[in-house]
Amino acid sequence: MGFLYDRFLCEVDKKLYSDVVRVVQDSKHDSIDELGSGSGQLTRRLPTTSKIRALDFSEKAIEKAKKLAGENVEFIQTDFYKEIPNTYDSDITIACRSLYHPDLNVSLDMLAEHTGQGLAIVAHPKPSLWDYALPQINGSRQLNLIQLIKGMSGRISNRIGHSYNLFDAEEFEKIGKQSFNQVHVENCAYGTHNLVLLQQ
Ligand SMILES: C[S@@+](CC[C@H](N)C(=O)[O-])C[C@H]1O[C@@H](n2cnc3c(N)ncnc32)[C@H](O)[C@@H]1O
Repeated sequence: MGFLYDRFLCEVDKKLYSDVVRVVQDSKHDSIDELGSGSGQLTRRLPTTSKIRALDFSEKAIEKAKKLAGENVEFIQTDFYKEIPNTYDSDITIACRSLYHPDLNVSLDMLAEHTGQGLAIVAHPKPSLWDYALPQINGSRQLNLIQLIKGMSGRISNRIGHSYNLFDAEEFEKIGKQSFNQVHVENCAYGTHNLVLLQQ
């Protein structure tokens, strides 16, 4: 499903990236780990003054992302649930639409362990297909066909075994508090995604 996200960028995707980048810019940091960087559309928008490690298990995605990235970005091909090499304390860890594990406990434990005293930022599509397909742009809901197709394909791929579970704000808050002291969930990308900030 990843290729759909990367290939058909729409206004919602761009807003999602700018919402994540705004949080990054508001935080004091030197280094960023981006888990599941895909073809690098978010990576290329992150501050060029930050030291960035972009992790993905897809060689093809990394090849694409390298073409867009600056010299401040190091790419690492790995499954971040299994191994994040040379663990050092990055100030910010971002997982933008990349927490594919069906159990949110596993994802947030992994993030807590990796993030240490830093800030973790998760952006994840909301469970409601209609919130996802009808973004609230300029005060009114507008049907977004690309979002609808992405949302439908995500749900179909779940049925055939590629799980990409969606979690509501309450789940992020409840499960997040088991691994982090501070959890803040807000809407982002015109109400289509949850933006979750987690910190010790
Ligand atoms: C939907 S794409 C999102 C890409 C980018 N973050 C964005 O929002 O544009 C998800 C990416 O996460 C990667 N990914 C998912 N699970 C992963 C894992 N366990 N380890 C490494 N990469 C993973 C996929 O290969 C894919 O490139």
